Amino acid sequence: MTIVNALPGRIGLVWGLLLAVGLTGCGGSDSTSSSELPNQLDLELRTEINTHQLTGDPSTGRELPSIDSPKAQLGMQLFYSKALSGDMDTACVTCHHPMLGGGDDLALSVGVDAEYQDLLGLGRLHSQDGDHFDGGPTVPRNAPTTFNIGMWDKVLFHDGRVESLSGTARKGGADGAGIRTPDVAYGSADPDAGTSLAVAQARFPVTSPEEMKNFGWFDGASNQQVRQYLQERLGGYGNPPGGHLSTNHWLELFVAAYGNAQSTPESVITFANVADALAAYESSQVFVDTPWKAYVQGNEEALTASQKRGALLFYRSVEQGGADCAACHSGDFFTDEQFHNVAMIQIGRGKGNGEDGSEDFGRFRETGEEKDRFAFRTPTLLNVTATGPWGHAGAFSTMEGFIRQHLDPERGFYEYDWAQLDGNVQVTHAERNSLKALNHWLALLESGQSLLPVVSLDDGQVTDLVNFMEALTDPCVEVRECMAPWIPDEAMPDPDDMRLDGMDLDGNYL
Ligand code: HEC
Ligand code: HEC
Repeated sequence: MTIVNALPGRIGLVWGLLLAVGLTGCGGSDSTSSSELPNQLDLELRTEINTHQLTGDPSTGRELPSIDSPKAQLGMQLFYSKALSGDMDTACVTCHHPMLGGGDDLALSVGVDAEYQDLLGLGRLHSQDGDHFDGGPTVPRNAPTTFNIGMWDKVLFHDGRVESLSGTARKGGADGAGIRTPDVAYGSADPDAGTSLAVAQARFPVTSPEEMKNFGWFDGASNQQVRQYLQERLGGYGNPPGGHLSTNHWLELFVAAYGNAQSTPESVITFANVADALAAYESSQVFVDTPWKAYVQGNEEALTASQKRGALLFYRSVEQGGADCAACHSGDFFTDEQFHNVAMIQIGRGKGNGEDGSEDFGRFRETGEEKDRFAFRTPTLLNVTATGPWGHAGAFSTMEGFIRQHLDPERGFYEYDWAQLDGNVQVTHAERNSLKALNHWLALLESGQSLLPVVSLDDGQVTDLVNFMEALTDPCVEVRECMAPWIPDEAMPDPDDMRLDGMDLDGNYL
């Protein structure tokens, strides 16, 4: 896996060559082999690719760090260290493991107070002795992937509460208007947000009690104070609650990434640098070498016929017999970075909204605008087959199930298979809450405000769409050796003896 920023000229060159080959085949050969001549399907798909102005590579033109850079290396160690959680039982990697698609393979995450701290994925449960135990997961939403995080220009989180105010974070996010975070009022810039959306985001998991802060830790402290305590813990200075680490080799890593000979722990081990390094590690996770990219850039063998038919359905409008998926999953990153109510099934303990707090109003929580109720950010579809369960609360454990619901949310609601959820996921109010989202979407649809059409496809077409989703995954993310640079190996020194070595239910290291 290399981070190649395709030169603009390269695509044209590949096409030029292909055309030349195709023309020779046409004029000089008596057999019109389908591998040399674009067939009808390829011609039609090429039209869509041109219409939608796709290059196949959303990383083009971005300066993203290499995993080998000192910042990303420091960031990796931080990402895997439980020292960033209040009670030191959770790390970022708990919910964003490279071998779990950059997520956790769970519908809803379990962060602090897990039964087994290092058990990730299926079987990770909230401990009965844990605070706010109700049998189910502690976190109300599905953990999105950290892969390709550097390709978001506008918003992070399902509800976009980390947001570039100028609408583009390309040049560091701080360009012009700055970045809004939950630390400041909606619409205003956070002066401490840092230089990109990913840096701004990395300041928050440590402040969330159920993700990393733990209940009963740093109580009454502001977000800023929590970060102050953590930088003192890592830096070995000050007097943070819980005291200092017994093993501490962080200084040399921070100096390598941010310091010089004069650096002191106080000057270089700051939370701003922690967030910056975490973001460097995440931003180095560029996984865009998909069969689809190869196809867009000229390799017609890269997709199966079914995947090509799926792609046509994806890009064509409903009038043209398609499903108009690209109305929202647009561009090379497969997202408009906008928010839509798509009447997703609502499960889990909720975000505290509604009469009993079990609902999640999504983008409405930020904007207060009625059209944003139950609206969530359009996710990228790159690597989507590796990032299930799907939906903002992980209600779907199969891609086919998800797509069927997406094509016809009303039917999807009535046919939803509740048995696909792990037995402990909270569903007491799920049916009622899902129906509310459905009714809200139906009203939007009737008044012409929804981009999600009701589409009727036959089984073969649904299969084609599912197969097309598979073409959007970079094969690297499924292969342990390919992902090895993003996972600290045993031989690598552990700066604080707090590294989380993720393992699965069978006790195998991930
Ligand atoms: C307990 C599980 C958990 C832990 C631990 C955790 N996260 Fe997350 N992460 C989530 C969930 C759930 C979301 C989505 C939250 C939302 O949208 O409201 C998320 C969202 C994100 C996003 C935004 C992704 C996107 O596409 O918008 C990034 C980046 C991220 N986390 C990085 C981190 C980092 C860095 C850490 C450690 C400092 C961390 N996470 C710790 C569960 C976790
Ligand atoms: C109206 C805009 C819109 C259209 C059109 C649309 N989607 Fe989506 N899609 C979304 C939103 C928003 C979500 C996240 C919904 C949620 O979690 O609440 C989503 C989620 C998904 C997911 C799950 C991704 C994940 O990581 O959980 C897949 C897969 C998907 N869409 C595929 C498709 C396909 C295939 C089509 C065409 C049949 C399509 N979408 C059409 C907006 C749209």
